Amino acid sequence: MSENIVHFEIKNKKAYLQINRPNALNALNKNVLTEIRDCCEILKDNKQIQVLIVSGSGDKSFVAGADIKELQELHNQNKEGENFSQWGAEIFSKLEQLPQITIARVQGFALGGGLELALACDFIIASEKARFSLPEVTLGLIPGFSGTQRLAKRIGSAKAIEWIVTAERYSATEALACGLVNHVVKSEDLIAFTEQIAEKIIKNAPLAVKTAKKVIQASEDSTFKEGCDIESKHFGLLLNQSESAEGISAFIEKRPAQF
Ligand code: HXC
Repeated sequence: MSENIVHFEIKNKKAYLQINRPNALNALNKNVLTEIRDCCEILKDNKQIQVLIVSGSGDKSFVAGADIKELQELHNQNKEGENFSQWGAEIFSKLEQLPQITIARVQGFALGGGLELALACDFIIASEKARFSLPEVTLGLIPGFSGTQRLAKRIGSAKAIEWIVTAERYSATEALACGLVNHVVKSEDLIAFTEQIAEKIIKNAPLAVKTAKKVIQASEDSTFKEGCDIESKHFGLLLNQSESAEGISAFIEKRPAQF
């Protein structure tokens, strides 16, 4: 991470990944994507960090998409466009599969690849000034970092088609209404509110938190019955861990659990 385009910091069981190209509204160029990939490599085997907060620097933009100037260089380069899309999608998939709970903290624009980045996080907390759109069709393109798939899963395919083919820009409250974001808060409260949610998560039993994410994600590739079986298996595994021994004893002894 030599150029420091992505700021990565670890503080008390939490990691912070902040994209820092404010002059380009934090657009995702290849260096930024590479640094996001490197951060995922650091996080994937780390058992101490329980939450990752992803943000963009400055007030104006979370991330305004893939870097359009770099996209221009890929024009007419045979399979380069497909390769770029696949490469970026793999990085976002690494982010999605991290064991930590990942929160996109969105202020300002989350456009194109920026919205796709937020969608690869477990959930989104937005400021009231956040604006969401997949405007790729205005450039003669479609989303390429798995946004067609993740948006449809999150808000349903009818809404996703409308969003993508109109390239409309949506307010934070509209995004809340269709389930794209979990919370909308005043801009000045965004950081503190996100911290509060992160603190609630890190207070809980870490293995149980990690397992909950894994089991919920398993539902995407399984039938309801298979998902329930995965849930039961992991419930049983957790009940044999020292973490649940402590949580249950603490309840019975009327004291706070020490995880
Ligand atoms: C490169 C970008 C950029 C981007 C903004 N900038 N978005 N540079 N890639 N995606 C740069 C501008 O060129 C400008 O640089 C500076 O940031 C400030 O932007 P302005 O346009 O001057 O600001 P403003 O007028 O306030 O408009 C803000 C905006 C607009 C509405 C967000 O910048 C915009 O529409 N950006 C593009 C959004 C977009 O189409 N995103 C999707 C990209 S495609 P200079 O040097 O001129 O000051 C995509 C595909 C993903 O994401 C999948 C790939 C496989």
